Amino acid sequence: MAYPTISCISIFFLLSLSITPSTSTCISESPPIPTPWPHQFHSILVMNKSGILQLIDLWYDWPNGRNFNIIQDQLGKLLYDLEWNNGTSFFYTLDASKKCRSAQLSVGILRPNWLDGATYIGQQHVDGFLCNVWEKAEFITYYEDIVTKRPVHWLFYTGRAAHVMTFEVGAVLEDAKWQAPVYCFDKSLEVNSPKLDNAHNVQGNILNRISVGSMDM
Ligand SMILES: *[C@@H]1O[C@H](CO)[C@@H](O)[C@H](O)[C@H]1NC(C)=O
Ligand SMILES: *[C@@H]1O[C@H](CO)[C@@H](O)[C@H](O)[C@H]1NC(C)=O
Repeated sequence: MAYPTISCISIFFLLSLSITPSTSTCISESPPIPTPWPHQFHSILVMNKSGILQLIDLWYDWPNGRNFNIIQDQLGKLLYDLEWNNGTSFFYTLDASKKCRSAQLSVGILRPNWLDGATYIGQQHVDGFLCNVWEKAEFITYYEDIVTKRPVHWLFYTGRAAHVMTFEVGAVLEDAKWQAPVYCFDKSLEVNSPKLDNAHNVQGNILNRISVGSMDM
């Protein structure tokens, strides 16, 4: 690891300018660490995978153990990806097609500290913001504005990129909206599950794999 950096020289320089320093110490600067996610927030994300664009409404709600990705394909379908901390996820549409698929994962939603242990890479400009950059488990590169500490961008190893357009700390989606439709609970309709290509699911799966890592610590 290239870090931590030692800034003894500048400290000594400053001390030499001050009035007779009685003690002198080396200060070892640790690399910056990612800001934990707020326990509740709403974010609008523009996703780009090789030029295929999506708009995601992300509602992260840790105290209530739930996470929602409402995914709008450009001029295409609207898909609801609802994840519970008990590992159950529902993927559904709310249109006339009434499609739903559920999945049982071995892990719950991302923890607020899921970026713990990420490797600091340095600073980069992205989307016009100067960011601190970390890499987590070779799955994701995460860019955080150095001034506001808000996430600006993240990039999955698949090439799928998220651009954070809004970040409303404390915003909570009303309870009624978290109710999966009845046809999600109708076993006889399982054949009618939407064709979910992995692109829709890949974000959740990758993030869940990352969260396993941080939960095991
Ligand atoms: C999406 O990503 C591609 C590279 O994969 C890039 O050429 C294109 O400009 C991006 N589009 C937008 C709207 O950001
Ligand atoms: C997990 O929680 C959701 C929401 O309360 C519920 O619909 C689902 O059945 C639960 N899954 C399990 C495996 O208990």
